[in-house]
Amino acid sequence: MMEQLKQLEQRLRETLPGAKLEIRSIPDSLNIKLALINENFPTGPLDQQTMRKVINSPAYWSFCWGSGVAAAGWIKENQAFFVGKTILDIGSGSGIAAIAACLSGAKLVFACDVDADARAATRYNAQLNGRKLTIIDNINSVSKKPDVVLLSDVLYDNSNLSLLDHPLIAESNTLIFDSRIKNLSAKGFESFATRCSCTIPNLGEFDEFREVSIFRSDRSDYFKPD
Ligand SMILES: C[S@@+](CC[C@H](N)C(=O)[O-])C[C@H]1O[C@@H](n2cnc3c(N)ncnc32)[C@H](O)[C@@H]1O
Repeated sequence: MMEQLKQLEQRLRETLPGAKLEIRSIPDSLNIKLALINENFPTGPLDQQTMRKVINSPAYWSFCWGSGVAAAGWIKENQAFFVGKTILDIGSGSGIAAIAACLSGAKLVFACDVDADARAATRYNAQLNGRKLTIIDNINSVSKKPDVVLLSDVLYDNSNLSLLDHPLIAESNTLIFDSRIKNLSAKGFESFATRCSCTIPNLGEFDEFREVSIFRSDRSDYFKPD
């Protein structure tokens, strides 16, 4: 574990020299601990080369985004929705949502990220919380059709909206947690809740990004009133 943490920290420093990883507890989250960038990470002014690296290969995995914090809180309050299920977390980053689903009794959890460092971070953080995830780099690599798909803070990239048309998503219960998207016009999705949240460590984001919208696809009896 120590060696893995050192390697992750080294990868982080290749983008942002002087940054460190700290083990942080995520509030309201089933006692999840994550290795995240230190609270006083260097913010600037950054030299041009560092700036380029931060822009070209942002270490998103070294933050637990406000949407991920909100996802973990919602999952904690709705564990019955996850027990015995197969889950796919797309854009796992630190692994926050996938780990929360696993701790809530999911049977099989796929954590998918396009970034190799995020996959390493998810693997490390899952171990830190005594859980094992199936880590993949492409959603087409799932070996079992998921019952529930999670996306937290992944739609910041407009091109990811096309993910919502993927058959895996179209045929499962999908939950989207997003602080940047207030209205989602994708067919079959509706907004059903909001949560106030904050990225860890705190990035001092504008107030509008502290409100996380939660969208769901309407395929589950779980959400239907009695
Ligand atoms: C802002 S981070 C959010 C991480 C985590 N879900 C959270 O809420 O803290 C977005 C993550 O999604 C990953 N990502 C972006 N597009 C993706 C895609 N099409 N498929 C899988 N992962 C993707 C990025 O590499 C990054 O790790």
